[in-house]
Amino acid sequence: MTSPVDQVGGARLSVRGLRKVYSGGGAGRGAPVEAIADLTFEVRPGELVCVVGPSGAGKTTLLRCMAGLLPATAGEVVLGESAITGPPEGMAVVLQEYGRSLFPWMTVAQNVELPLREKGVAKARRAELVRETLAAVGLGDVAGSYPWQLSGGMQQRVAIARAAAYEPQVLLMDEPFAAVDAQTRFDLEDLVRTLWKRLGITVVFVTHDIDEAIYLGERVLVLSARPTVVLEDVEVGLGQDRDQLETRGDAEFARLRTHVYELVQQAKKGARTLAEAHLTHPVGARDA
Ligand SMILES: Nc1ncnc2c1ncn2[C@@H]1O[C@H](COP(=O)(O)OP(=O)(O)OP(=O)(O)O)[C@@H](O)[C@H]1O
Ligand SMILES: [Mg+2]
Repeated sequence: MTSPVDQVGGARLSVRGLRKVYSGGGAGRGAPVEAIADLTFEVRPGELVCVVGPSGAGKTTLLRCMAGLLPATAGEVVLGESAITGPPEGMAVVLQEYGRSLFPWMTVAQNVELPLREKGVAKARRAELVRETLAAVGLGDVAGSYPWQLSGGMQQRVAIARAAAYEPQVLLMDEPFAAVDAQTRFDLEDLVRTLWKRLGITVVFVTHDIDEAIYLGERVLVLSARPTVVLEDVEVGLGQDRDQLETRGDAEFARLRTHVYELVQQAKKGARTLAEAHLTHPVGARDA
């Protein structure tokens, strides 16, 4: 039997000279807001990269540009070989406001199935994908329920199941666990890493939680305050196998947390380059 989480392989995602200026309020009122100054980075095929930065830095703006939901003012986002001009095929997005992203008049199973219909997946395969991904997120027994009958954490798992069933090449997530309790959050973090490993997909995960970014990521992109630039691209040398207790107790984890925490503090104070960020705990391995 084929699993819904066969290797589908990831795609390369390149952000090149991206700039985004919101053009103020309606009818010419309100000043323009420069959210993204100039961002250039690459996410390799099958890589899991986390993005952190101060509140209002431009993280959601970046994700929306990457998802083709928002046009760039300058620069481009390239998926594989093609510049993104609208929501591309093969990409799934999980937003923070999952409550609004599920259709209340559809059951959990119908919500998960909808994008598969749109993708043209055959009926039998759709049923299989829905059943198996709901089981994978521990919601096999509520397939026939409606979203509003579920807790916040369960609704978020539906949104994740929907994204996973779609078998995307690229998965973008914007603070997807912000509204769930700590225990569920740990479970969902492990679920994301499991799906990521099994599908071999490219994942970009935005979070304000530094520990979460380090626990999940192969790299953590630390953004400056608005208008945002990359303050540092931090390698996470924690290996492939992560465990909520062991990994978080690791000396390397503590070292990375201190470093990223300091970077974000410096970003809040206005640092826009590493030279401007006065770190009191420079990172040993990188500077050695
Ligand atoms: N539609 C919009 N029109 C005008 N300005 C906007 C719009 N959306 C966001 N902004 C502004 O752009 C800046 C970046 O916002 P964005 O939501 O991308 O930040 P963020 O890093 O996701 O913040 P948070 O961590 O709080 O989610 C903010 O100053 C915000 O007020
Ligand atoms: Mg945001």
